[in-house]
Amino acid sequence: MKHTELLWDEAKAFIDVCYQELGMESETNARLHAIKDEIDRTGSYVHTAEELEHGAKMAWRNSNRCIGRLFWQSLNVIDRRGVSTKEEVRDALFEHIEIATNGGKIKPTITIFPPEKNGEKQVEIWNHQLIRYAGYETEQGRIGDPASYELTAVCEKLGWRGKRTDFDILPLLFRMKGDEQPVWYDLPQTLVKEVPISHPDIKEFADMNLKWYGVPIIADMKLEIGGLSYNAAPFNGWYMGTEIGARNLADEKRYDLLRKIASVMGISASLNTDLWKDQVLVELNKAVLYSYKKHGVSIVDHHTAANQFKRFEEQEQDAGRKLTGDWTWLIPPISPASTHIFHKSYDNTIVKPNYFYQDKPYQ
Ligand code: ARG
Repeated sequence: MKHTELLWDEAKAFIDVCYQELGMESETNARLHAIKDEIDRTGSYVHTAEELEHGAKMAWRNSNRCIGRLFWQSLNVIDRRGVSTKEEVRDALFEHIEIATNGGKIKPTITIFPPEKNGEKQVEIWNHQLIRYAGYETEQGRIGDPASYELTAVCEKLGWRGKRTDFDILPLLFRMKGDEQPVWYDLPQTLVKEVPISHPDIKEFADMNLKWYGVPIIADMKLEIGGLSYNAAPFNGWYMGTEIGARNLADEKRYDLLRKIASVMGISASLNTDLWKDQVLVELNKAVLYSYKKHGVSIVDHHTAANQFKRFEEQEQDAGRKLTGDWTWLIPPISPASTHIFHKSYDNTIVKPNYFYQDKPYQ
């Protein structure tokens, strides 16, 4: 089948559902004719602002691995399809961080850049998240976030130089169409809200000088709507505490802090049967939730998030839509069986619009 035929099929499937959900059925036929005509003339078509906004929301609703989908309708969609220079891209990314952070009361937000044109990316973002910590493997040992080793090396090859603390914020890194190499821009410190980690009762926690950033803004996934590929469309929600307390700070391949925290807490880390890892995980996760709350930055615990997901399941059922989900990602990494999610199964069919992984431009 020809590329434009595939595009037309995807466009038609999207417009049918989108216009029906928006109560615009009476406009479906005229719009489909216009799209068909546009594809015949130009080889592609352009979404209206309404289609783009609702498509991005549908893509969130269809994200099988996301436990936070109850709030899909409240997504703040910023249409930046008009940008053409690197300065405009940089400023749009800065603005995303500022708007999404919202002084701590995080707004789920997506900024949508121009889609691929004949398979060619207009803007290519190299960051995994707009805000993330660098990582270095040095002769004296490991520094920072091991998940960032490769990207950090790429940044340093391009002339950026990190301070080599455990929490150096990586620069924005993106490539414009026609350019050989990406450009980088340091984030203004004033834009980046960070949260120092302390514990409500164990004061030694604060002495470790741990922190994490407030807003997770995934920047390397492709938003696909009606056959169009928005390869650059960074989006964010707020954190669920376990992402930081049970994974980022705890995984052996990340900050790997469980032993150190056990020692700071004064508990023995030698016997599996003591469940010391479990004990440390609980206290670390309490510290993360407590600290975000204390600093006025939105966060959700995994019990509340699971209850919200239950409401999402009911809401989808009432709307007459099939629920899809990925059980292996929906269960939280601590106390999974204490949530309803653990005790049922989910259909992991991929429905579009959706967000997809794409190949890393480096590697
Ligand atoms: N798990 C990733 C992290 O720890 C963030 C993924 C998106 N999370 C979210 N709550 N929207 O940085």
